[in-house]
Amino acid sequence: MTARAIIALDVPTLDEALRLVETLGDSCRFYKVGSQLFTAAGPDAVRRLRAAGCDVFLDLKVHDIPNTARGAVRSAAALGARLVTVHASGGQPMLEAAVRGAEEGGTGSTPCDVMAVTVLTSIDAGGLATSWGRDPLSVRDEVLRLAAMARAARVPGVVCGGSEAAAVRAAHGSALSILVPGIRLAEGGGAGARMDDQARVVTPREAAAAGADYLVLGRAVTGAPDPRVAMQAVLAELAGP
Ligand code: C5P
Repeated sequence: MTARAIIALDVPTLDEALRLVETLGDSCRFYKVGSQLFTAAGPDAVRRLRAAGCDVFLDLKVHDIPNTARGAVRSAAALGARLVTVHASGGQPMLEAAVRGAEEGGTGSTPCDVMAVTVLTSIDAGGLATSWGRDPLSVRDEVLRLAAMARAARVPGVVCGGSEAAAVRAAHGSALSILVPGIRLAEGGGAGARMDDQARVVTPREAAAAGADYLVLGRAVTGAPDPRVAMQAVLAELAGP
């Protein structure tokens, strides 16, 4: 399967988001609404994207007690979100509750898949060790541990860095779908490209080759001088030999 590119609408207003959607036109029909836009524009952001015929990844990264997580995911699914994120570190009972919420709120025509965030792509091994109060950790091992817990909770997919995607694919085959953020275009420097606040980045082609089903791109496209040109570069990389 070809990986699908999702563009992150990390902008402060719905007007700005809809302008980007119009700019990209048919080249992108899958958008991420995250905490910035959702906090500013609320459920309307999702409704307007759905009305424009786009799929929506609602990246709320829920991390709460199971009952609250279940309700949040149920609401996201009822709104028409195709994907919604929860933090795997919320624990197996929370993940199981989130999956129930997605089943309760989703419809036959718009099923909603819970995606469990393993380790944020802005975190490296040192940052992970500091946050979790443990000795230096392997990010890859932590991602695999959390992905196994997500699968045990019947979560359909996980979010991880491109550098861990191949290991997740090898361990779980098609039992888990994989979403990879932290993407930077090869054109313009590859590893030398702007990292911004990300610690673990890969190119679109590397993510797809590692087995990603979905790629989330933010600033590499939305912050480009011409987002249309950047989007075409992403699609060309994904279609390339
Ligand atoms: O601008 P950039 O491409 O770095 O943005 C990446 C997007 O992916 C952001 O919207 C961010 O919230 C999201 N994301 C991430 N790491 C995760 C999950 C989501 O960077 N683990």
